[in-house]
Amino acid sequence: MIPPSDESIDQLASLLQDASHVAMLTGAGVSAESGLSTFRDKEEGLWAKYDPLELAHIDAFRRDPELVTKWYHWRFTRARSCKPNAGHFAIGRLQKWFRSRGGRLDLITQNVDGLHQRGGADNVIELHGTILTWRCLRTGERYSLDQIDFSTFPPRSESGGLLRPDVVWFGEMLPADALDAAQQAVAACDAFVSVGTSATVWPAAGFADMAQAGGAAIAELNRETTPLSDKADVSVLGLSASVLRDVCRLLGIEDKEPR
Ligand code: OAD
Repeated sequence: MIPPSDESIDQLASLLQDASHVAMLTGAGVSAESGLSTFRDKEEGLWAKYDPLELAHIDAFRRDPELVTKWYHWRFTRARSCKPNAGHFAIGRLQKWFRSRGGRLDLITQNVDGLHQRGGADNVIELHGTILTWRCLRTGERYSLDQIDFSTFPPRSESGGLLRPDVVWFGEMLPADALDAAQQAVAACDAFVSVGTSATVWPAAGFADMAQAGGAAIAELNRETTPLSDKADVSVLGLSASVLRDVCRLLGIEDKEPR
């Protein structure tokens, strides 16, 4: 890959410097440098023959709950063994930097891996839920991973109900509170920044247009062009971890991430 131009990184830093309320939307690309595959990457090993876009569907769970829960078990085991990368830490630092200047950065993610929180971000709006809690289909009760017996699949709660990950699947509604919080952030922002997402899955795919209609500046950081690239005021073609670290450096934000 050609390294991103210094000019585009400078432009992203200036856009953030001039903003007081940022809405940032992230996707699987932000976690790629932690070792987690995106939805469009070819998987290796045991799960290579399955299409993640088909497994992340309510119909797949209805048809074969054993297969789907085994896949999610594998996904959270991997997510827990991965570490947040420089991009997650940079976003956490940016959030604090905005707050220290009386502004804010609202973080909206489509990721379910919990790496933003481990990288220091807070109030993360998880549009697609999380794989770190599961819920009982019989009682609705939520369970953390260490409360669940994963020795048989699909796992069940003590009431005998099927347990499923607390994520949003294709064919399901987004959690109303997360969607509401995301829409409020997008409507109120003066800069919208999309990072590591293919910008194709609704409703997140519409956030940039909504922000632009409200007068916000639009920036994108992705390793390749997306449907958003042409509309964005700033488009950085690069890897999120290194670019976000450079942006923090340009803004004079101290680099304190654990080595
Ligand atoms: P995708 O897998 O669709 O897209 C990942 C994006 O990240 C692509 O545009 C890549 O070019 C980009 N990318 C990969 N590595 C990168 C890196 N190191 N730095 C910068 N960019 C990088 O993932 P999402 O856009 O998150 O939904 O997908 C959105 C939703 O569609 C997911 O949450 C999931 C999915 O299918 C559900 O499961 C409901």
